[in-house]
Amino acid sequence: MIKRRLIIDTDPGVDDAFAILLAASDPQTEILALTTTAGNVGIERTTRNALGLKELLGLNCPVFKGADRPLAIPLEDAANVHGESGLGPYVFDHVPALETSELAWDAIYRLAKANPGSTLVALGPLTNIAIALMRYPDLPDVLGEVISMGGTIGYGNTVPYSEFNYYCDPLAAKIVLESKLKVTTVGLNATRQTQLSPDELASLDPQDPVLNRFVRLQREFYWDRLRNLGMEGFHLPDAAAMAVVLEPVLMHAERLPVHVVTDNGITQGWTVVDLRRRKDEKLHQVNVALSIDKTGYLRLMQQINGLKGGHA
Ligand code: BDR
Ligand code: CA
Repeated sequence: MIKRRLIIDTDPGVDDAFAILLAASDPQTEILALTTTAGNVGIERTTRNALGLKELLGLNCPVFKGADRPLAIPLEDAANVHGESGLGPYVFDHVPALETSELAWDAIYRLAKANPGSTLVALGPLTNIAIALMRYPDLPDVLGEVISMGGTIGYGNTVPYSEFNYYCDPLAAKIVLESKLKVTTVGLNATRQTQLSPDELASLDPQDPVLNRFVRLQREFYWDRLRNLGMEGFHLPDAAAMAVVLEPVLMHAERLPVHVVTDNGITQGWTVVDLRRRKDEKLHQVNVALSIDKTGYLRLMQQINGLKGGHA
């Protein structure tokens, strides 16, 4: 029985790939589309990776290409973390062609309208969603909800207090968070609670040999990068965000006032979250993840183990 329909907006990205694997492993989830954005690497590469993942996993959904840069500033990618290809050492030799020239924002609106109650899972900068809102002001009426991996409370992973997706396109983040969309932000403060040990991550390795090679290459590469950044566990922010889409009880979230700083420089993309819980607060409020249950996350992620590829 299908319980949820997802549009996944993504910039694959090692942790995006794990998030897509997780969604694909869930029998109660239908993936309506992968829409791509520039982010971790440029749009040609994120789109190629999405097409490659679609084939690798045998996904029965179209891929739509989206924004090639943030709304108002140049792209600063994260190839230092995800590798030049976006997927570490993994390069898809050949990928299926894009089936359509329809762009991500048009597809998001059309699919949301055709599938009432569907969820948009945003795993990259929010550029495509901001454009969709500007083109289709009634998007909030037709889309179920948005779960956005982005922002943080406390220290960031780009400049001191900012998380990459909102740092990359702060204006888009501000537009989406201040819109009428039903938004939940799943930020680093929550996703960091799901870090896996090397053994726990190895327990996800698929039995399917082609997928097994893909996952092993990703985790070996990523572990090197994370250790260089001084991290002690596997932190896959996008996979953690996908886990709470599949099982919302894993997350504790509260409606809180959030202000996104759009200035360039040291505070770019900072999410100022007001935890004082004042009743007279004038800032726009969104649902903000405060914690994620790591045991439940690991249990869900272990579903990846049984995935069958679409390559046979
Ligand atoms: C986010 O930034 C990207 O590098 C990851 O794919 C994730 O979406 C984490 O800050
Ligand atoms: Ca991402």
